[in-house]
This record gives sequence, structure tokens and C-alpha cells, in this order.
Amino acid sequence: MNYSLNFKGKSVLITGAASGIGLEASIAFLQNGADVYMADYNENVLTEKADELKVKYPDSRIIPIVADITSSDEVKRMVETVKNETGTLDILVNNAGMAHSAYSINETEKDWNKVIALNLTSHFFVSQSVANEFMIPQKSGRIINTCSLGGIMGIPGAAAYSASKGGVMQMTKSLACEWARFGITVNCVCPGFVETPLIADNMANEKWMGYMTMRTPMRRLAKPEDVAGSVLFFASEMASYITGTSLVVDGGFSSGS
Ligand SMILES: NC(=O)c1ccc[n+]([C@@H]2O[C@H](COP(=O)([O-])OP(=O)(O)OC[C@H]3O[C@@H](n4cnc5c(N)ncnc54)[C@H](O)[C@@H]3O)[C@@H](O)[C@H]2O)c1
Repeated sequence: MNYSLNFKGKSVLITGAASGIGLEASIAFLQNGADVYMADYNENVLTEKADELKVKYPDSRIIPIVADITSSDEVKRMVETVKNETGTLDILVNNAGMAHSAYSINETEKDWNKVIALNLTSHFFVSQSVANEFMIPQKSGRIINTCSLGGIMGIPGAAAYSASKGGVMQMTKSLACEWARFGITVNCVCPGFVETPLIADNMANEKWMGYMTMRTPMRRLAKPEDVAGSVLFFASEMASYITGTSLVVDGGFSSGS
């Protein structure tokens, strides 16, 4: 057993890598020697962040891929880029996602479908693509999905978001059962509230921040690095017998107050 977090020679694809948790996970893998494919649809920010990381980690391979992962054509192109660059992929981090709040009596079909398409459906089809192309033939792989407290707790005004994240958790279990025979593990991280642009509006609201801080046993929101460490753990050899599970990273929020 290799008890280290050494990812030298491994390649990782991270969606939503230009910001927040995805960016921090990219940094975490780079610090441990991996080649990192950073996928995001925000071309300007992605290019800027990837360029910064190339300066900081000159010995690592950092390949930015501009892709909207809700488009099957762009997912296909993203996977082809990986095939052409390194030809292998060991780890997939399905991270790109959006927040959305609307009280259920006002929810629209358009917004509902948008949330499900990005937060749930894209996780499935990116996983399917990567499994078919790389992980099943090579008989190994790690897939780490991104769930949320919304996937395990009811949150008023978040039915679409919660449905998408609850779906990710159940999908994780099904994929884990189907793909264990191919040496692929599938797990998910379940962050509480994390200080990223995703919840910038909430964080600007002093009342909300005060309540969330007091409501969280650790008396602070998570930082992206609190979540990135869990992603690395699931990708490491130490997690080789763990599949179909979720790791809640919420400072104790879901345990009580
Ligand atoms: N921040 C939180 O409080 C929190 C809590 C629980 C779960 N999460 C989950 O963590 C994940 C990352 O969130 P974050 O907080 O880092 O958000 P973020 O907004 O900082 O980053 C999300 C990234 O995804 C990219 N993205 C969005 N749509 C895309 C698309 N269609 N194709 C490709 N890229 C796309 C964005 O450009 C952005 O760079 C999400 O799945 C989110 O639901 C976040």
C-alpha cells in the first residue's frame, strides 16, 4: 500500500476548474505531481488561472480545455483532447455546478431543467464518456462527484438544486456497483457552504453569514481547500476499497448546531 498522496504520472480531469473548489482541487493535484486537465466554459478566467498555475508549477502538465459540459458535442471534444494529449486518464472530478434558488410555487421548467442538466446529467455523461474511453479499457479509474448538503438535507427554496444533488448521490452508488468490476471507484464529496463565487450573493448578506456561522458547529464556512483534500483522498490509493460512498465536509452542519 502506498500511503502517500503522490500522483506523479497520473492524469486528472476536473470540470469547473476555473474557480472555487475545482480550481483548488487542480492546485491540490498539481502539488502532488499530477498532470491536470482543467475544463471550464469560462474561457477568459480559465486561461488566466491556467497560465498562473503554469508559472507556479512549471514541472507539471496543465492543459486547459474550454468546454460547456452540458453539450454532448463539447464533452466529446473534451475527451478527444485528453486522448490526443496524454492518451490516458486516471481520475475524473465532476465538479462544475450551479446554485439556484426559487420557491417551488414559482419554479419554472426552464430553470429546473437547466439545474438538472448541469448538476446531474453532465456528471453522468462525462463519467460515461471517460469510463468508455479510458477507465474501462485500462481497468482502473477514480471518479469523484460533487454533491452538497442540499443532497442530504431539505433546504427551502432549493428543490431543483437538492434534486440534482440527491440524484448525484444515488447515481454515484449505481455507477460504483456497475463499474467496480472494471477497477473503477465512484464516490462523492458533499460540501456544506463553501466560500466561493457560487454563493457570493449569500456571503454579501451579513444576516445570512451571521446565521450560517452560528448554525455551523465549527463556527465558520468551509474554504475550497477543506473540500479539495477530500477529493485527493478519494483519488488516492488509500481509498482503493471505498466506492459508492459520500464524504460530508460541512464543519458539522448536518450533525446539529
Ligand atoms: N460553494 C458552495 O457553497 C458549495 C456547496 C456545496 C456544493 N458545491 C458544489 O461544488 C461545485 C463547485 O462549486 P464552487 O462553489 O466551486 O462554484 P464556482 O462558481 O466557484 O465554480 C464553478 C465553476 O464551474 C464552471 N461551470 C459552470 N457551468 C459550467 C458548464 N456548463 N460547463 C463547464 N464549466 C461550467 C464555472 O465557470 C465555474 O468556474 C458545484 O457542483 C457546487 O454545486 C458548492
